[in-house]
Amino acid sequence: MRSTWSPFAMAALLLVVAASVAHASHLKVGFYKHSCPQAEEIVRDAVRRAIAREPGLGAGLIRMHFHDCFVRGCDGSILINSTPGNKAEKESPANNPSMRGFDVIDEAKAALEAHCPRTVSCADVVAFAARDGAYLAGGIGYDVPSGRRDGRVSISDEVLKNNVPSPTDHLRELVESFKRKGLSADDMVTLSGAHTIGRSHCSSFTQRLYNFSGQLGKTDPSIEPAYAEHLKQRCPWPSSNGQMDPTVVPLDPVTPASFDNQYFKNVLAHKVVLTSDQTLLDSPLTAGIVKFHSAVEKAWEIKFGAAMIKMGMVDVLTGHEGEIREKCYVVNNY
Ligand code: HEM
Ligand SMILES: *[C@@H]1O[C@H](CO)[C@@H](O)[C@H](O)[C@H]1NC(C)=O
Repeated sequence: MRSTWSPFAMAALLLVVAASVAHASHLKVGFYKHSCPQAEEIVRDAVRRAIAREPGLGAGLIRMHFHDCFVRGCDGSILINSTPGNKAEKESPANNPSMRGFDVIDEAKAALEAHCPRTVSCADVVAFAARDGAYLAGGIGYDVPSGRRDGRVSISDEVLKNNVPSPTDHLRELVESFKRKGLSADDMVTLSGAHTIGRSHCSSFTQRLYNFSGQLGKTDPSIEPAYAEHLKQRCPWPSSNGQMDPTVVPLDPVTPASFDNQYFKNVLAHKVVLTSDQTLLDSPLTAGIVKFHSAVEKAWEIKFGAAMIKMGMVDVLTGHEGEIREKCYVVNNY
C-alpha cells in the first residue's frame, strides 16, 4: 500500500495543500518577528513544562483551538471567564468540565506580558499552543500564521448552537458543521485525526454501549465486540448520582499518547469511542480518506498541518479589530 504512493503523488499532494493555504486572511507566519521575537518560543516552553507535569495537556490545547475557532472564530473567546449576568463559552457542556489547558495559556501569557506587554494576542497563543501540543506528542511541526486579535464576547449558549459539533453527530451533520466554517469534508476527516491522542469522558459514548438507538440494553454493533466489552468494564451504566462521571478512556486505545495515524487504523478496525469517529466510514469519499491516511502516515501529517492552518483562519479578527487582551480570561477594561 505504502509503496503505491510515488514521490510524484506526494509532491502533487503538497502542491494542492500549499495552494489551499497560500491565500486567505491577513495572518502571516512570523507576525511577531520584530515586536516580540521570542513569542513562539515562550509559548512552546510553557507547553513543554505543562506536558512534563501532565502529558494530556497537549491534547487539551489542540482541542481548545478547535473549540475556540468554531465559536466566533479563532478570537480567544473560549478563554474568557463568566461575569455576573453572562455565562461564557467555558461553561457550555461542550467545554465544562472536559476542556483542559486553560492554566497553560495563562502561564504562557504571563511570560509574554513580562517580555513584550500588550503585544501577543491570546487567540495566537492558543493557535501556537495547539501546534506545540501536536508537535511535542510526536507530530510534525507546521508554521502558524499569526496576527489574530482577541474578541470581547463569549456566550455559553452559542457553543452548541450550530457551532461545535456533537460526538453523537453522523456524517452529514459533521460535514455540514465544518462547511459552515468554510472547511471541507476532507478537512473534517483530516482534523478528526487529532483523536489519536487524548481522552474522552464515558458520558460522550455510554449511549452507544447501553442504549443504542434508544433500545435499552443494546450495544452499537459497529463497535468491535471485544472493545465494546472492554469499554463497558471501564464505563458502567448508569453514570453515578447525577453528577458528571469523571471516568475517562483514551481516544486511541493502541498508542494513546503519540501523535500518529493510528486513529485512522482504529476507525477501520471499529475501535473508536465516538459515533462522530465511526461515522467517517459512512460514505465512500470519507472512508477512502480514512484508508489513505491509515496507509500513508506522512501524507496525513502534511494534510493535518495544512488543515490546522486553515481552521486557524476561521473568522479571525485582524488589524484594528478586537483587542490584545492583557489577561486571557478577562476582556480589557479600557
Ligand atoms: C469532527 C467533530 C468532532 C467531535 C464531535 C469531537 C468530539 C470530541 C469529544 C466528545 C471529545 C472528548 C472530550 C472529553 O470528554 O474529555 C473530544 C476530544 C478531543 N478532541 Fe475532538 N471532536 C471533533 C473534532 C476535533 C477536531 C477538529 C480536533 C482538533 C483538530 C479535535 C481534537 C480533540 C482532542 C485533541 C481531544 C482530546 C482532548 C483531551 O484529551 O483533553 N477534535 N472530541
Ligand atoms: C435511551 O435513548 C432514548 C433515545 O435516544 C432516550 O430518549 C432515552 O432517554 C435513553 N434512555 C436513557 C436511560 O438514557
